[in-house]
Amino acid sequence: MTRQVAVITGASSGIGRVFAHHLAPGYDLLLIARRQQRLDSLAQELSAQHGTRVTVFAADLTDEAALSAAADKIAAEPRLALLVNNAGFGYRGRFWEADLATIEKMHRLHVMATVRLTHAALGVLVRRNLGAVINVASVASFASRAGSASYGATKSWVSAFTEGLYLDLQQAQSAVRVQALCPGFTYSEFHDQLGEDRRSFAPAAFWLTAEHVVKDSLRALNNGPLFVIPGWRYKLIVAVLTKVPFWLKLRLESRGLDRRPDSPK
Ligand SMILES: NC(=O)c1ccc[n+]([C@@H]2O[C@H](COP(=O)([O-])OP(=O)(O)OC[C@H]3O[C@@H](n4cnc5c(N)ncnc54)[C@H](OP(=O)(O)O)[C@@H]3O)[C@@H](O)[C@H]2O)c1
Repeated sequence: MTRQVAVITGASSGIGRVFAHHLAPGYDLLLIARRQQRLDSLAQELSAQHGTRVTVFAADLTDEAALSAAADKIAAEPRLALLVNNAGFGYRGRFWEADLATIEKMHRLHVMATVRLTHAALGVLVRRNLGAVINVASVASFASRAGSASYGATKSWVSAFTEGLYLDLQQAQSAVRVQALCPGFTYSEFHDQLGEDRRSFAPAAFWLTAEHVVKDSLRALNNGPLFVIPGWRYKLIVAVLTKVPFWLKLRLESRGLDRRPDSPK
């Protein structure tokens, strides 16, 4: 039987890498991230373990030419069945103090790369009337916090975009599924890159493994909810924050989980 193809962005570490491990037994893979060596060794590992045909594409998705090339590859894949828009990064700092070039890259990666790759993928998937797009958003789509205005805003966009796609697909009576995956704090390289102790972000009980996040996502893909929020603590936080009056939401957000000495109390 012909194997279907899954595309994963940000596959060189963390949640994306775990997606690759879980999908490799059932799909051929196109793995995208900037670090070629990481992708090459993951490809070797997955083909040795599962006989998976893995193509790697080393690309900075904030770069216009590289993003177009990635979108072209996706649009030209007739066996495409799944796109996981996962590549992303964080920063910490007050908006006006953060490096503007970094912020612009974040908006390009979380928003424009998701737009372009999803457009390319849905062209194929809707024609085939099968498959899915998983957009990795965040609990930050529902819960803002000081020090990550653009992160929260771009992840809120990812969630709203996915909800809009869901409605379009439903109206078109398409079998293609979409999911907004909304993890909370997850062990990966994401926080390492911020160069701060993990304990400064949240108490240990709030940390999820990438394995947990990916299992919840894939389990929910066929019949599960549009928004997948791994972990009962985060389900509870989102349930509360989306139901309380706005003034109370703002007050809770300003307390947050943030344990930095200068965080608002
Ligand atoms: N970890 C958390 O607590 C958490 C919570 C909620 C949501 N998320 C979301 O989960 C997703 C995955 O993050 P993670 O936690 O797995 O972090 P991670 O381990 O740092 O992985 C991020 C991935 O994105 C890739 N990437 C970053 N910038 C890129 C660019 N310009 N072009 C192409 N690829 C790029 C990285 O690969 P290269 O460096 O090789 O390019 C890496 O593979 C992100 O969207 C993040 O916002 C994470």
